[in-house]
Amino acid sequence: MAKTRSAQHAEWLRRGQAVLGGAVTSFVLPETHAVVLSHGLGSRVVDVDGREYIDYVLGSGPLILGHAHPAVVEAVSRQAALGSTFYTLTPAAIELAEELVRAVPCAEVVKFVSTGSEATFHALRIARTYTGRSKVLKFEGGFHGTHDYALVSAFPNEPTEQPCPRPDSAGIPPEVTQTVIVSRWNDLEYTRELIERHADELAAVLCEPLQRALPPAPGFLSGLRELTQRHGILLVFDEVVTGFRLAYGGAQERYGVVPDLATFGKALSGGYPLAAIAGRCEIMAVTDYGRRARGEPLAYLSGTLNGNPLAASAGLATLAVLRQPGVYEHLYRITDQLKVGLRELAAARGVPVQVIGDGPVFQVVFAEEEPRDAPALLRADRERAVRFGLACLERGLFVNPGEKFYVSLAHTEDDVARTLDVFAAALDAVLAEPVTGC
Ligand SMILES: Cc1ncc(COP(=O)(O)O)c(C=O)c1O
Repeated sequence: MAKTRSAQHAEWLRRGQAVLGGAVTSFVLPETHAVVLSHGLGSRVVDVDGREYIDYVLGSGPLILGHAHPAVVEAVSRQAALGSTFYTLTPAAIELAEELVRAVPCAEVVKFVSTGSEATFHALRIARTYTGRSKVLKFEGGFHGTHDYALVSAFPNEPTEQPCPRPDSAGIPPEVTQTVIVSRWNDLEYTRELIERHADELAAVLCEPLQRALPPAPGFLSGLRELTQRHGILLVFDEVVTGFRLAYGGAQERYGVVPDLATFGKALSGGYPLAAIAGRCEIMAVTDYGRRARGEPLAYLSGTLNGNPLAASAGLATLAVLRQPGVYEHLYRITDQLKVGLRELAAARGVPVQVIGDGPVFQVVFAEEEPRDAPALLRADRERAVRFGLACLERGLFVNPGEKFYVSLAHTEDDVARTLDVFAAALDAVLAEPVTGC
């Protein structure tokens, strides 16, 4: 059972329910576990009752330095005093773009937007403009945001051998979904067949190089690189999660495969709303506004808050910390301690648990074997994973039940020790509950 909340906390929840339907995103906790957070510091968040949690949600990933890192607070405060938005170039936006170009192998030119969804939307528009083709291939279970082209087979509900493009939301015109081809993650032969069949109409192959928490099989990403190159299709890595998280140069650095275009968000701007599309100069040139006057196809890209200087300053401060020696070693070490510790706790109890992921992001899957694709995740015991997450919440970990855990630079070995105690108690709680089937 969740701890009792104060009357004041219950009142906040009632008001949030009345005007926000109880949520600001798709992260919706059951009424028994819903919380209203008041603030965060380092690895901790605190609810309006003053109850503290070790945070593994981290704002859904952006807070790679933890909450309210002093360097980020200082940078944003300094910029806020100078003005918050200008709708034109600023030193902060220019410097952040320069840093992205220095850090990321595929990045020669950068365009800023405000959200990861906008970034993947525009990456696809750029790819279509550049190639003159209209279709896109993505992978079942891959998530690329909320626009109509992204919400296709991101949340499959049953395992199938041949995934069919299926809209994940009502309100998406069928004509849009028909422009998306869906393949099987980590199945290069299946993907090769689809790419070869649709080569003349494919503008892009879009993937999360670490799909949710499913690492790429050896040779899968390089296979995609080779196939797309051969057929003049753009390879787009959605690095909204992996960018600056798996390595400073993102998944493309970690896995050694360089795409044509990549999208960034989350860690790039350290918890402030900014995202980016980066790629080769020749491709990004289709966003040059001069093209319209010259009668050339223009991939139109704009936005009131694009390159926002507050967010760009937060990003610059975040990246400066990430460049310090030992940062990624810390992130990987802490995450490994959590993953190894949880595997040991599960093994000692005879519970089939797989802890999947790469770098400072992982997911707890209740399954006998390590899942490698979306169907395998669907065959796992999701209900148990959700109950495990809820049991963690009840014991002071802020988690998104059944979803990924994010780790920040602010997480310490003391956090690991406390977290493993909670994991042990949460596993016991899950084991003690009757199996209801899923
Ligand atoms: C891989 C990936 N791409 C794109 C997005 C969309 O980003 P945003 O929520 O900023 O629109 C997300 C969000 O979680 C994501 O995980």
